[in-house]
Amino acid sequence: MDRIIIRGGRRLEGRVPISGAKNAALTLLPCALLTDEPLTLTNLPRLADVDGFGHLMNELGVATTIAGARNGTDFGRRMTLTAERIASTTAPYDIVRRMRASILVLGPLLAREGEATVSLPGGCAIGNRPIDLHLRAMEALGAEIELTAGYVRAHAPAGGLRGGRVTFPIVSVGATENVLMAAALARGETVIENAAREPEITDLCHCLIAMGAEIDGVGGDRLVIQGRDRLHAAEHRIMPDRIEAGSYACAAAITGGDLLLEGADAGAMTAILDGLTEAGLTVTVEADGIRVRADGPLRPLTLSTAPFPAFPTDMQAQFMAMLALAEGTSVLTETIFENRYMHVPELARMGADIQVHGRTATVTGVARLTGAPVMATDLRASMSLVLAGLAAEGETQVLRIYHLDRGYERLEDKLSAVGADIERTGGD
Ligand code: EPZ
Repeated sequence: MDRIIIRGGRRLEGRVPISGAKNAALTLLPCALLTDEPLTLTNLPRLADVDGFGHLMNELGVATTIAGARNGTDFGRRMTLTAERIASTTAPYDIVRRMRASILVLGPLLAREGEATVSLPGGCAIGNRPIDLHLRAMEALGAEIELTAGYVRAHAPAGGLRGGRVTFPIVSVGATENVLMAAALARGETVIENAAREPEITDLCHCLIAMGAEIDGVGGDRLVIQGRDRLHAAEHRIMPDRIEAGSYACAAAITGGDLLLEGADAGAMTAILDGLTEAGLTVTVEADGIRVRADGPLRPLTLSTAPFPAFPTDMQAQFMAMLALAEGTSVLTETIFENRYMHVPELARMGADIQVHGRTATVTGVARLTGAPVMATDLRASMSLVLAGLAAEGETQVLRIYHLDRGYERLEDKLSAVGADIERTGGD
């Protein structure tokens, strides 16, 4: 079992290349199902979840070719996906259980083939993660949904999906993505009310429009889609990962460092950058990225997670690690997922002073953290442990780092390059 060993206390300084966004890639890959022509995605990150999704696409009959980075600075890969014909409309349990984003083939398969059988993803460490909003949205486009033996069996009407009105009671990124892709090929107009506005949704809209889709209201919470008979080939560059960039910004903060987040897009990170500025960091947007510099002590924050453009839930664990060393008491409230404080007991083992009551965590800043062996439980929690290890006195071992590999490309290389004493070892 691989582990990461960090000897903390080193100030980080230099440039960190930001990879393509995991949560954009995972909704862009299934777009290939919507056409029999090639879809080329560039700036594709090297991540376990992306490779897993590529494997799922192959299972469905999609041909994929992948090329390495074309030049020195762009580490991203170039993948061309061609779904000339769909060989299977089933996303099996053994794939879906390891990667819940597989549910994002539901809408495209229904739109392209008129049917889809997708394993129910089940819950995960941060919550039970239901998919009821995805299913209701498909029904609004005329699909019939049946749940049998742990699978969703969906069928479109004889003439295919038809446009409809979808009003989400709560904001759902994945459900918005699924219905957007399905609506692109549905007959007639689809209106989505209370759509998620995350930058990854905007990136998806730009890719679909490049493929010939007609979408109005991009970036807003009301999207209007005129369905097309077919979509066509396109090439789309995946947006930079705002959560990876925010995570490395916290690395600068927690080590008193100075990092240039190369290629990061400030427009997708306003709430994150506002939080960093309020915590005392100097944040400057430069031509080639965002510079984050720690000029003095960290100040405490009061933050609530919420859908974009508010502070993202995917940054809560990383900010908590940073605020563990702030001068004062911070209050974080997690409003999106019901169990996203798994990092707290592990941070406490390193000396953090954090009290959790329901959805609220009170973080009382301490003078120092001390290294310890800690256990990663989910993707963003594991990053918060790495951040704490970078600042802690002594050695920190982070176990179960397969969680990290799902969302952070070349983590130890990127951190070593800016001065961290970090290595990956195969463990017992
Ligand atoms: C996406 O998950 C992201 N994953 C998550 O990132 C992110 O935390 C989340 O959006 C919120 O921003 C990907 O994009 C692959 P939701 P998703 O549907 O789509 C409830 C990471 O660390 N809900 O917006 O699954 C749900 O339980 C991951 O990169 C329903 O009740 O999130 C949650 O409480 C973690 N019914 C809330 O809505 C549904 O049908 C928001 O979930 C769907 C969701």
